[in-house]
Amino acid sequence: MSKAMIVDAGGGFEKVNLGQREAHAPGPGEIKVRLHASSLNYHDYVVVSGVWGPAEPRIPMADGAGEVVAVGQGVSEFSTGDAVVSTFFPTWLDGVPQVDSFATVPGDGVDGYAREEVTAPATSFTHAPKGWSHTEAATLTTAGLTAWRALFSDDHVKPGDTVLVQGTGGVSVFALQFAKIAGATVIATSSSDEKLERLTALGADQVINYRTDPTWGETARALTGGRGVDHVVDVGGPATLDQSMAAVRVAGHVSLIGILSGVEGSLQLIPALVRQIRLQGVLVGSRAHQIEMIRAIDRNGMRPVIDKVFPLEEIVAAFRHQESNRHFGKICLEF
Ligand SMILES: NC(=O)c1ccc[n+]([C@@H]2O[C@H](COP(=O)([O-])OP(=O)(O)OC[C@H]3O[C@@H](n4cnc5c(N)ncnc54)[C@H](OP(=O)(O)O)[C@@H]3O)[C@@H](O)[C@H]2O)c1
Repeated sequence: MSKAMIVDAGGGFEKVNLGQREAHAPGPGEIKVRLHASSLNYHDYVVVSGVWGPAEPRIPMADGAGEVVAVGQGVSEFSTGDAVVSTFFPTWLDGVPQVDSFATVPGDGVDGYAREEVTAPATSFTHAPKGWSHTEAATLTTAGLTAWRALFSDDHVKPGDTVLVQGTGGVSVFALQFAKIAGATVIATSSSDEKLERLTALGADQVINYRTDPTWGETARALTGGRGVDHVVDVGGPATLDQSMAAVRVAGHVSLIGILSGVEGSLQLIPALVRQIRLQGVLVGSRAHQIEMIRAIDRNGMRPVIDKVFPLEEIVAAFRHQESNRHFGKICLEF
């Protein structure tokens, strides 16, 4: 038996308890992984806090990284001792999206990775980036892959493009880092002047405080000489989409990723239509996207931005820290 955090049906921070779970010896096609780290995402927050709590008791957390400790029959991709990182959609291996819900997502529809050991199909993991710690690798499953897919699978961001990222959470900081690697100019927003300085230090070319400048999308457009940005990574949702539309160029791309300001709102359709904007819903990515992303990371030596690390048992304190919006980049769990 090994340690696992379990959230009761319905969720709620007061319903998170330390329990025990067993990971069986791997069968054909499976691997057993000693997990060492996870990282927090807004999606995990809504499950654990009870906003969209689980229907039954659940081990939370979509992200998991660790070391392979046993390999089942027929598995050739992994060996004992390999460092691995989990995938968000264990059933979406490649090609066009094969998912339209969270039913198969670890930590939501099925048990996740807030635990010390797991046995799963080998395809539920990929190799981790070379030389990264397990904690660093655990940042990739959700936030890293979402940013990667938005920029390089749904769109083809290239040197000379301008990318706008919003706020300083996990997805946006990864999007900033990936866009810079691709040679793009990055305009980044935050509600905090102190965080804007950190965004600049990380490579943002121009920064805007979205709290003191409510028409930050128009400001971003002006910063491009009126052309508009090529790609917007929208994590705000209803409160940000109109300004994202104002920022983007004719036929530019807006990735509809986040719902930080809610799930309903109105959208000005005429500007979107006449300016022929491509609005693309994003739900993380496939295992093939993850392998591509890790190949790119292995080539360019980037490292994730980790804000703070908590022990597994302090998972609720970690979510409270996320809730405070004081973080910059990823909050992680180690175990
Ligand atoms: N569709 C997908 O595949 C996918 C995948 C991952 C995440 N998401 C979604 O993307 C969003 C961000 O996720 P995350 O894990 O990166 O969250 P996070 O790490 O908790 O990021 C929160 C940060 O976003 C910024 N923010 C909050 N409200 C904002 C607003 N109205 N406008 C602009 N920025 C705002 C704040 O930055 P400042 O403090 O700098 O202002 C805040 O610190 C969430 O809604 C999440 O559900 C979607």
